[in-house]
Amino acid sequence: MKRHEFLRGLHRVTANRNYLEIGVNDGRSLRLSRVPSIAIDPAFKVATELKCDVHLVKATSDDFFARENPLAHLKGGRHPLRNLRRGRAPLGHWRRTVLDLSFIDGMHLFEYALRDFINVEKHSDWSSVIVFDDMLPRGVDEAARDRHTNAWTGDVYKIVEILARYRPDLVTVLVDTHPTGQLVVFGADPASTVLKDRYDDIVAEFLVPDPQKVPESILDRVEAVQPERLLGASFWSRLSRARNIGLRRSRGWEPLRRAVQQLDAGR
Ligand SMILES: C[S@@+](CC[C@H](N)C(=O)[O-])C[C@H]1O[C@@H](n2cnc3c(N)ncnc32)[C@H](O)[C@@H]1O
Repeated sequence: MKRHEFLRGLHRVTANRNYLEIGVNDGRSLRLSRVPSIAIDPAFKVATELKCDVHLVKATSDDFFARENPLAHLKGGRHPLRNLRRGRAPLGHWRRTVLDLSFIDGMHLFEYALRDFINVEKHSDWSSVIVFDDMLPRGVDEAARDRHTNAWTGDVYKIVEILARYRPDLVTVLVDTHPTGQLVVFGADPASTVLKDRYDDIVAEFLVPDPQKVPESILDRVEAVQPERLLGASFWSRLSRARNIGLRRSRGWEPLRRAVQQLDAGR
């Protein structure tokens, strides 16, 4: 399955009510959105018809997230007051804008993608879905930090190991999409500061000159699930229902975590 087809599937199964995209280019991924969206790219050149209400931001993602109230376009809150029953979102939470689905596909260097994740997670929650593109380079040349190929993933594949090591509380699923794979992240915790606190250590360890030593497991895609399997999983409707009623992490995350991990184990 091609990457945009998978992304289209994610829009469907997550039933997302908003969308954030980092890295727009000509708009081929953004055109899949039908919900209020924010899309960020310092050099977008949209050449396709868009069918969503979008704030198209001409800036780097770092500059965008440094703005005051960057998600103002999506304002409206996600937890309707009528759902403020026991175990659901308390009154003070309903105004916070939470991202339902985010796609990180901007600068293809791992430290940029890591900062993008840190920033996106601050505006996400346990029931949000965050997707990275280009997680399965097909060779060392494609994964170089210094671009010298037409198709280029850069070294963003390092995010797989960084999240596994530093954020075992998250559940990540590598997906075998064409051409260069994706990573879907579940269980975002906007209160976590681990990645921000350890950012300098992580960069110091993972920033190495080309050629990159891409792990065999990445090149062989041994840990990646088939996209059809993830899109066909049974937990999606539970996830979107839980999100829509504002179910708290303490009630909703553990069953979701188990369901996603089961899928991973049955790869
Ligand atoms: C691979 S393209 C995006 C493709 C698009 N998401 C799609 O699937 O059709 C990467 C884009 O990221 C943009 N970009 C580069 N650096 C960026 C940054 N710091 N913040 C946001 N976008 C960036 C580039 O201008 C480029 O258009």
